[in-house]
Amino acid sequence: MTGFPAVRPRRLRHTPTIRRMVSETRLDPAKLVLPAFVVNGEGIEQPIASMPGHARLSLDRAVDLARRAAGLGIGGIILFGIPDDKDPEGTGAWDPDGPVPRALRAIKNAVPDLVLWADVCLCEYTSHGHCGPLRGTEIDNDAALPSLARAAAVYADAGADVVAPSDMMDGRVAAIRTGLDAAGYENIAVCSYAVKYASAYYGPFRDAADSAPAFGDRLTYQMDPANAREARREALLDVDEGADMIMVKPAGPYQDIIRDLRDRIDLPLVAYQVSGEMAMVEAAAARGWIDRDRIILESLTGIVRSGADIVITYFALDAARLIQEQS
Ligand code: PBG
Ligand code: ZN
Repeated sequence: MTGFPAVRPRRLRHTPTIRRMVSETRLDPAKLVLPAFVVNGEGIEQPIASMPGHARLSLDRAVDLARRAAGLGIGGIILFGIPDDKDPEGTGAWDPDGPVPRALRAIKNAVPDLVLWADVCLCEYTSHGHCGPLRGTEIDNDAALPSLARAAAVYADAGADVVAPSDMMDGRVAAIRTGLDAAGYENIAVCSYAVKYASAYYGPFRDAADSAPAFGDRLTYQMDPANAREARREALLDVDEGADMIMVKPAGPYQDIIRDLRDRIDLPLVAYQVSGEMAMVEAAAARGWIDRDRIILESLTGIVRSGADIVITYFALDAARLIQEQS
């Protein structure tokens, strides 16, 4: 007997308890990472219009947020800095007194049981908004590498547990690994944004960080959304260069890539549910067109089901609360 009526898949959906028992995917707050934007100053909480619920925070407020995250069992927080001044080289990225190192030191002290991640890139710090320095109108790959390595070492020194280069320059993972080891930070992990697509889903983030490129676009360094085989190549190169974790970004529209890399690479796989993915949910929820809570859990479940071990998400606080309420 191989079919109906002997076989009835509905039997295993009959009660909440049996559904919970056969559930194949479970969300865990410990696997979530909350992004936060930090600025200089004190008492600052400057809302970001396109990212409801998120604000540019001075370090005292960032510490409060980190406390809330840890209280909900969230695994980590990833910091992005918005400096007071920008220049063509992005020198603010490795200023030990910049917003990110200062917030890292404060959070490390106040909230020791959170994994501290620091995004490593130059675009928040360059006056032209590109992820590396310019040579004419080209983004100079090799000139970016020492700057990225220097920034990573400054973040490690300030207390970052994980540095996460998001610039998409070739060779940056090796440059950062070598730099960290030379400075005595051999235990600080590198999570490579190995597979980062040139995506329109980053729009709200660029408002938040004031980091939209002043000319051109990021198509010469971020990946073409059409490419899947190239994602494998990027990921394997970064594994070779010494990455400890590999990231796919954005997450929701690239779940085929997440699945493919999960099946091929045994490092922890991170997916970044980016600002535009969040903004679309918030916009539709504000109009009453979707059920926000259910969409948050369903979107994250999809990302984890497709193979992500760790998810960076602006919904981390809400998701952790919803996961707790469910269990
Ligand atoms: C910086 C960086 C970006 C994001 C993370 N790191 C923006 C970009 O590449 O333009 C996007 C995150 C998001 O949209 O939530 N390189
Ligand atoms: Zn960048």
